[in-house]
Amino acid sequence: MCGIFGTTLHKGKAAPVIHQALERLEYRGYDSVGLATIHDNKLSIKKDQGSIKDVDSKLNFDELCGKIGVGHTRWATHGIPSFENAHPHMDCKKNVAIVHNGIIGNFIELKSELERKGHIFNSRTDTEVIPHLIEENMMDEDFIEAVRLAARKLEGSYSLAAISTHSPELLICVKKESPLVIGIGKNANFCASDVSAFLPLTKKALFLDEDELAVVKSDKIEVMNFRTGQDIQHDISEITWSTEDASKSGYKHFMIKEIHEQPLAISNALRIQNIYYDLIASKMHKAEQVYVIGCGTSYHACLAASYLFSKLAMLQAKPIVSSEFIEQYGHAINKKSVVLAVSQSGETADTLDALRFAKKMGASIFGITNVMGSSITRLSEVYIGQNSGPEIGVAATKTFTAQLSVLTMLAVILAEKKGSISNNELEIMKKMLLDVPKVMKKTLSTEVKIKKLVKRYKDKSSFCFLGRGINVTTALEARLKLLELSYIPSLAYPAGESKHGFIAVVEEGYPIIFIAPKDGTYDKILGNIMEMKARKASTIGIIQAGDEKLKQLLDDYIEIKDGSMNFLSPLIYIVPLQLFAYWMAVERKCDPDKPRNLAKSVTVE
Ligand code: F6R
Repeated sequence: MCGIFGTTLHKGKAAPVIHQALERLEYRGYDSVGLATIHDNKLSIKKDQGSIKDVDSKLNFDELCGKIGVGHTRWATHGIPSFENAHPHMDCKKNVAIVHNGIIGNFIELKSELERKGHIFNSRTDTEVIPHLIEENMMDEDFIEAVRLAARKLEGSYSLAAISTHSPELLICVKKESPLVIGIGKNANFCASDVSAFLPLTKKALFLDEDELAVVKSDKIEVMNFRTGQDIQHDISEITWSTEDASKSGYKHFMIKEIHEQPLAISNALRIQNIYYDLIASKMHKAEQVYVIGCGTSYHACLAASYLFSKLAMLQAKPIVSSEFIEQYGHAINKKSVVLAVSQSGETADTLDALRFAKKMGASIFGITNVMGSSITRLSEVYIGQNSGPEIGVAATKTFTAQLSVLTMLAVILAEKKGSISNNELEIMKKMLLDVPKVMKKTLSTEVKIKKLVKRYKDKSSFCFLGRGINVTTALEARLKLLELSYIPSLAYPAGESKHGFIAVVEEGYPIIFIAPKDGTYDKILGNIMEMKARKASTIGIIQAGDEKLKQLLDDYIEIKDGSMNFLSPLIYIVPLQLFAYWMAVERKCDPDKPRNLAKSVTVE
């Protein structure tokens, strides 16, 4: 995710202003930090791996002179946390400094093009192509036009702030998909990833739209569309949030903010370079046994992946909770085994333990994680960084759907490799996957109805979630979210199993939530709904929009627009259930960001 900040002051020192703003942005990333300022027509940079506090106590940021500067607090996506990979990044001649948040999808192509032209790169980041592109453009153009032309060449998501010794009074900001807002002060202006960064300095803000470039001076701001060059006029907004509200973008809790960030988190997850998928898929294709391991929510992603690998690529992969891996499969592991570990933090002790064991037995180890430089990235032959940005809420939400997106893409690429589906089907699947963020945005609008549902069911002492096929995963994950956030003891089953025991506890008014898309499991789940209705249970369904039959049958339902997602349905159908768990916690006065007894990263076995 990363936090960026820039300022240009009429007088005074920019560095202390940037330093304090970065502290307010630290929740957006905290593996590296850096500042750059211009003084006497020279760029000076202080940066390193580590927290703001640690790096500052070593380097003393506030020492930097100059009235203009940019700063960055990093959450690694390309390249591990290190001095070289920390922002700001510069061009060869050290005339341009850049801070960036987002992902440059075409950086590999751009980097080779720039290297052919003689540019020298110092980092493994995607960001570093930007100052070199600007440098290249500045051979013929002024700084503003050079940035504009560079922005037009970039693909992916990016908000960035740039300064140059060629125009030492200008702070240039660009926004596409990643957040960026301009703060308007008195004889000072700012740009930042969110308003929390400049709230103690000004309450006046100008929100940039997509594809916009702002030329910011200490007393003037001009905005244009960087594709067309057309000038844009924006209204100035008065911010009424407190600093804390603002770091949550006005949401009450990080968890609900993160639920709403899912469309962007999935777009970012789907921007991962194919090369990593190819390497993992090739090994999985040749392996004798494949295991997919994780804990908690990450295990649910593994379970969904095992359905996907089988359905799309006809590959059998055994999903297992990490803590049981050695006991259950330890004797069967050898150098023909592949173990794919899924862990948001990359530090979960049970998962690391299983991986170390499997490695010792000669297995090939692969990882999917949200934390670059974490232990999983070091243990894995190849790993995929899911690019979700920090997740502050203890309960996993956006990182779960991002994991699922990565695993779905892996299944599709594996299917391509194995030739198990036609080219036409492949194209359709890739397109459907790329459409998920759009569908998810629509699904988030179920929140209004979910809040009403929560009010109706808030006093129930237990819930059960039932699903079939790949949506057994959705049922398990929905149950986990509800019980960890609201402390309501709840159950989840493959719906077919409900007759083999669970049905004994069903009595009048017991709430059962069915995940019921119109896929191959539909008729059977309909039967399960009838069985539970016959026992006078309260039946609630997450159903496809326009499913009149279920609308008649169920006591309550949430309709999913464009809900015919088939193999992608867990990605979408989990969203109203995350919202259900969140609003239930709020209703029952539980803190959704910090559920009792839980930690974000479980580093003990
Ligand atoms: C539930 C949750 C946990 C984690 C589990 C694994 O909301 O967040 O169940 O999924 O502790 O953590 P990672 O993915 O970091 O290995």
